[in-house]
Amino acid sequence: MIKWGDKYSVGISMIDEEHKKLIGILNKAIFAKEHNDNPEEIKEVLSEMVEYSHKHFSTEETYMIKFNFPEYQSHRNEHLDFTDKTITSYNKFVRGDYQIANELPEYLKQWLANHIQVTDRQYIDCFKRNGLK
Ligand code: FEO
Repeated sequence: MIKWGDKYSVGISMIDEEHKKLIGILNKAIFAKEHNDNPEEIKEVLSEMVEYSHKHFSTEETYMIKFNFPEYQSHRNEHLDFTDKTITSYNKFVRGDYQIANELPEYLKQWLANHIQVTDRQYIDCFKRNGLK
């Protein structure tokens, strides 16, 4: 599980709220795997992660384009890697590869913690300079 704390805050309330939601979905995936192992529930949570991460990445990328953020392409590439991994894993799970549910939560946890604390911090100055708070 990841517990939300200041170390994950980028200081922009709308983005912090979206990150909290992503962490909440991740925690649901971890809980579903550890406590009931119900494939339908795990499938639903993975689907939610695919959908909500798409929405969140669109939010950030829209502002990056609008504000001419210089690291847009490399940041977007990280989003695309995550999207590719989660969609591929979801499809495998739906086809009956339940092993993927053992590996994916750890990947999601590592990726989200690193991306939010390192890569997302790079746009803070740019976004704030352009009026986001
Ligand atoms: Fe908050 Fe770049 O994802």
